[in-house]
Amino acid sequence: MQKTFIKDALEVIHERKSVRNYTGELISTEDINVILKAAMAAPVAIHMMPWKFIVVRDKDKLKALSDGLPFAKMLPKAGTGIVVCAAPHEAALGKEEFAILDCACASENILLAAEALGLGAVWTAVYPSKELISFVRKELGIPQNIIPLNIIAIGHPIGDEHAEDKYEPNNIHWDKW
Ligand SMILES: Cc1cc2nc3c(=O)[nH]c(=O)nc-3n(C[C@H](O)[C@H](O)[C@H](O)COP(=O)(O)O)c2cc1C
Repeated sequence: MQKTFIKDALEVIHERKSVRNYTGELISTEDINVILKAAMAAPVAIHMMPWKFIVVRDKDKLKALSDGLPFAKMLPKAGTGIVVCAAPHEAALGKEEFAILDCACASENILLAAEALGLGAVWTAVYPSKELISFVRKELGIPQNIIPLNIIAIGHPIGDEHAEDKYEPNNIHWDKW
């Protein structure tokens, strides 16, 4: 079934915020598929798609991940975690850097798609911490040549979080530094 999108692109971009407080209601598999399609629509270096996505719905796994990650306590209540994984051997020039960049673009698309669907999401950090990468690999049986970049918690927001205006004109240079 086709979703009805009522927000325009700029509205979604400006209303996106990290959501850490969830109702506990699970998001639908239909929404997960919409989100993953958005992820894979991200720009990529030299038309390679060096990404894998692990959808974690299992309550015990979400709890174990939240226990082992320093800033991911919201995962169990969110109910869904998408682990964005970089596959350097499938990246432009076989480079890890390209895989990470491409996966960061996919991650932002996930965050924006969640916002567009009226859901809440937050990027929880794994990469570049070697310890956290090893921990997540072990918990989810991820092969050594795959790098988990983050776990994006997604759920229904309680609605008490709002986008922050981070616009700063002093960070913009015109024509030269
Ligand atoms: C690389 C990266 C790592 C992050 N790690 C975490 C994290 O581990 N836990 C968390 O709650 N938020 C995390 N965030 C979300 C940031 O805290 C958040 O984006 C930032 O405070 C700005 O707020 P906003 O997303 O609402 O605009 C991360 C964001 C990025 C891009």
